[in-house]
Amino acid sequence: MTTNLRSRNWFGKTGKDGFIYRAWMKNQGIPAYEFEGKPVIGICNTWSELTPCNAHFRELAESVKRGILEAGGFPVEFPVMSLGETLIKPTAMLYRNLASMDVEESVRANPMDGVVLLCGCDKTTPSLVMGACSVNIPTLVVSGGPMLTGKYKGKNIGTSDVWRFDEAIRTGKMLQEELTVAEACMCRSRGHCAVMGTASTMACMVESLGLSLPGNAAIPAADSRRKVLAQLSGLRIVEMVKENLRPSDVLNKKAFENAIVVNAAIGGSTNFVLHLLAIAGRIGVPLSLEDIDRKSDKVPLIANLQPSGAFFMEDLYYAGGLPAVMKELDSLLHKECNTVNGKSIAENYADAECYNRDVIATLKQPFNPVSGIVVLKGNLCEEGAVMKPSAASAHLMRHKGKAVVFENIEDYKARVDDPALDIDENSVMVLKNVGPIGYPGMPEVGNMSLPKKLLEKGVSDMVRISDGRMSGTGFGTVVLHVSPEAASGGNFSVVESGDIISLDVKNRSLHVELSEAELNARKAKHKASHKTMDRGYVGLYQQHVQQAHQGADFDFLVGMSGSEVTRDSH
Ligand code: FES
Repeated sequence: MTTNLRSRNWFGKTGKDGFIYRAWMKNQGIPAYEFEGKPVIGICNTWSELTPCNAHFRELAESVKRGILEAGGFPVEFPVMSLGETLIKPTAMLYRNLASMDVEESVRANPMDGVVLLCGCDKTTPSLVMGACSVNIPTLVVSGGPMLTGKYKGKNIGTSDVWRFDEAIRTGKMLQEELTVAEACMCRSRGHCAVMGTASTMACMVESLGLSLPGNAAIPAADSRRKVLAQLSGLRIVEMVKENLRPSDVLNKKAFENAIVVNAAIGGSTNFVLHLLAIAGRIGVPLSLEDIDRKSDKVPLIANLQPSGAFFMEDLYYAGGLPAVMKELDSLLHKECNTVNGKSIAENYADAECYNRDVIATLKQPFNPVSGIVVLKGNLCEEGAVMKPSAASAHLMRHKGKAVVFENIEDYKARVDDPALDIDENSVMVLKNVGPIGYPGMPEVGNMSLPKKLLEKGVSDMVRISDGRMSGTGFGTVVLHVSPEAASGGNFSVVESGDIISLDVKNRSLHVELSEAELNARKAKHKASHKTMDRGYVGLYQQHVQQAHQGADFDFLVGMSGSEVTRDSH
C-alpha cells in the first residue's frame, strides 16, 4: 500500500466523504480492497467513431489496463473531447485548446495518481499533452499507430495523394469512379494517416521528448506489437507514480531541442511548431520560433517519408523505427535527457538498428541535405512565418513576384479558377484571414490548390503565403503561420494584388516592397474584414487566442496550475 498518493484524498477518507467517494464507484463491481492504496491510473481516451483514426482505442485501452492491473494499479478509463481532422468543422484546430482544458480539468478534478494519454489523430496528441502538462502528475503517452500503407492500382498511396488526386480530378485526368475506389484503398486498416503528416509527427514528437516508451511512434495500429507497447506502458505508469516521475522531470529545454532536431530529420509537419510552442508554454520552458530555426538548421533529412520523400510509416517501423533515426542523430542530440521509462534518451536508442537505408539514411549521406522548419522574418511577417523546405521546390527558394491576394477563403474559392484571374506561375498567391482569430481557428488551407489554368499548363508549384496552416501531408513552396495574422492588423493585412513580394529562404526573409510610410498609410485606412463572435466558445477563442508564433494557445492557459484541489464540497 502506498500512502502518499493523491487519490488517498478521495479513497483514503473515512466517514461520509469516504463513503461517497467509494460507494458509487462500487456500483461497477469493484471490491473494497481496490480502494486501499493502489495507485489509481487514469486512461485518458480519445476513442470516438467520429475520430476514425482513434476508433480502435477501446481495445488499446484494454491492453493498457492489463499492464496497470499486472503492476498492482487501479485503472480508470475516462473520455475526453476527441478531435478528428476529417469531420470536424470548421477546423479541429479551433478546438485544440478546448480539448486541452477538458483534459486538464478532468485529470485535476478526479482521484488520479498518474495518467496514460491515448492519442492518435493530429490534435488529440497536443491537446492531451498540453492538458496533462498543466496538471503535472506522472504522465505517459501511448499513440494509436499509423494505418497500413494504402494500395491503389498496384501503387502505394497515402494521405499526400489526396492533393494529387484533387489536381487530377480538376484537370480531368482522373474520374470520380476511380476516386471512389481509391478511398477504400487508402484507408484500409485502423490507425492514423500513414505518411509523416501531423499525427505521425506528433507521435515522433512525444517519443523524442521522452514522453512515451521507445518505439511508440511507428508501430502500425494493426500490428499486434502496438498492443504489447500499450500493455508495457500500463505496467510502467504504475512505477512512474511510485517514483513520482512527472512531465516537468522530463520536459526541459534540452528535451524540446531534441524534438526539434528529430522533427527536422524526419521532415515533420509545420504544425509541430504550433504544438511544441504550446506544450513548452504549459510546462514553463521558454521556447521561441528562433529556437526552432536554430536547432533545425543544418540537420539533414534522413527519413525518406512522404510528403518529403517516398516511404510510409509502416516502412519506418520495419526499418528500425524512431529509435534507429535517433541513433543516427546521436551526435546532434542531448543524450542525457530523461524519459518516462527512467532511462536516458540515448540509452533508449543505444541498441537500435537500421534495417533499410533507403528509408533511414545516414547523416553522412542524407536523403536530402535540406530539411526542417525554416522561420522567416520581414516586413510581411513581423513576428515570423514558417515553411518546410524539404516539401518545397528548390527553384522557388529565392523568388520575387507579383502578389495575387485573396481576402479570405471564400474569395479564393470564388476566383481561383476564373479564367480572367490575372496570374501566372511567377505570381505569389496570398491568402488572408485564415489565422487563429480571422478564420477563426487557423485551418489547413495554406497549400491552396493552384489555378486550374496553370495546372493545365503543367505548373506544379508556386509560392503561396497565408496566415493559416497546412496539413502535415501537404507539400509545395508554402509559407504559413504569418504573424501577426491579417485579422490582428499587421502589415500582412494590407498587402494588395500587384505588390511585389520577395522570398529568400537562405536569408530567412519575406518582404513586400512597400515603404514603412505606405504600409502605415494603408493600415490607417484598413478595415478588418473578419467576423467576430461575442458568445460561446468561439467568442472566448477569438478574445484569448495568442498568435501563431506563440503556439496559438490561450493567454490564460500558459503555465501550469498543478494537481492540487484546495476545496472540497462534501
Ligand atoms: Fe487523423 Fe490524418 S486524419 S491523422
